[in-house]
Amino acid sequence: MIPSQRDLFDIPRERVYLNTAYMGPMPKAAIAAGAESYALKGQPWRYDIQGDFFDAPEAVRARAARLFGSSPADIALVPAASYGLATAARNLAPQRRTEILVLEAQFPSNLYVWRELAGQYGARIRTVSRSANQSWSEAVLGAIGPATSIVACPQVHWADGGALDLPAISEAARRQGAALVLDLTQSLGALPFDMAAIQPDFAVAAGYKWLLGPYTLGFLYAAPHHQTGEALEENWIVREKAEDFARLVDYADGYAPGAKRFDMGERSAFQLVPAASESLAQILDWGVEEIAATLAQRTQAITRAVAPLGLADDTPDRAGHYLMLALPGGAPKDLVTRLAARGINVSQRGDRLRVTPHLFNDDADIAAFADGLRAVL
Ligand SMILES: Cc1ncc(COP(=O)(O)O)c(C=O)c1O
Repeated sequence: MIPSQRDLFDIPRERVYLNTAYMGPMPKAAIAAGAESYALKGQPWRYDIQGDFFDAPEAVRARAARLFGSSPADIALVPAASYGLATAARNLAPQRRTEILVLEAQFPSNLYVWRELAGQYGARIRTVSRSANQSWSEAVLGAIGPATSIVACPQVHWADGGALDLPAISEAARRQGAALVLDLTQSLGALPFDMAAIQPDFAVAAGYKWLLGPYTLGFLYAAPHHQTGEALEENWIVREKAEDFARLVDYADGYAPGAKRFDMGERSAFQLVPAASESLAQILDWGVEEIAATLAQRTQAITRAVAPLGLADDTPDRAGHYLMLALPGGAPKDLVTRLAARGINVSQRGDRLRVTPHLFNDDADIAAFADGLRAVL
């Protein structure tokens, strides 16, 4: 168990923030790095071409790679999950009349792009739903078959917290020759990811939730066999010899090696990269296994504290860090607003309360959450 790390965050004592799945707070060290990067923009002569344009993005790429369990060369810097997923779609060509598998109520960034691709290639979307007491993994494994060309799914379902057995799903997809594309936005950094066992074609994570980073910088893993693929944009800085600013119009046909060709335009993102890098350094320092174990205990403690109020954790395959509490009948419709008025931040998805702590939470938060709920229910 990692003890509460509240001192590393700018969260007032009376605030009960249990909403990492919506927006992870940046640690103070990341905020300081971000402030310094804005100061630099006021004095542009201080930019260091090698350091700020090239070395800083490589440092954040290397840290992200450690979370994916990949080589830095397999990682691209992207502004959003949707951008990473669009890159994946650009490089996959489903056969006519095959199926792209998605989960019911999957996050829209991981759906619309597949609808487009299916339309373009005459494939179709197959939406996998699960029955009561069936795990997502059972439902997906039951749906993968000879018609499957792409499986596009998360590691953790954002709406119910169910975790998927990705090694098993990967193996089933591979047996059918289907591609595997993963959205790790609600899991990377909070749940271990076993790259060797899963080997996806592409995997993306937005950086502003469990990676505790700034908004608009995320990460895309592209498997080595996709690294000669097409990027969404023709970005000058990922071409060969881009380091030589004096000779940029000696146009180069070749790209920098690896997944770097998929980097977003202006990927050196001076106002984002240093802050993201600090956040990832902190996560690596804590260790993902340790974070996952600690958050699993915290969500269990929360479940115990609110059980007497009629809220239940009934997701059979719930990920340890991601608590979706079924609300008792008669819970007010404006429950989230009423809790927010008491300084308690959670989300509601359907008839469930989403409670997603991180290491800044402590026992006092759990007690205050239970007290707040008692007062408003
Ligand atoms: C599962 C999942 N994927 C992706 C995102 C964010 O997507 P994007 O970066 O495309 O805005 C969210 C945000 O809630 C999410 O829950």
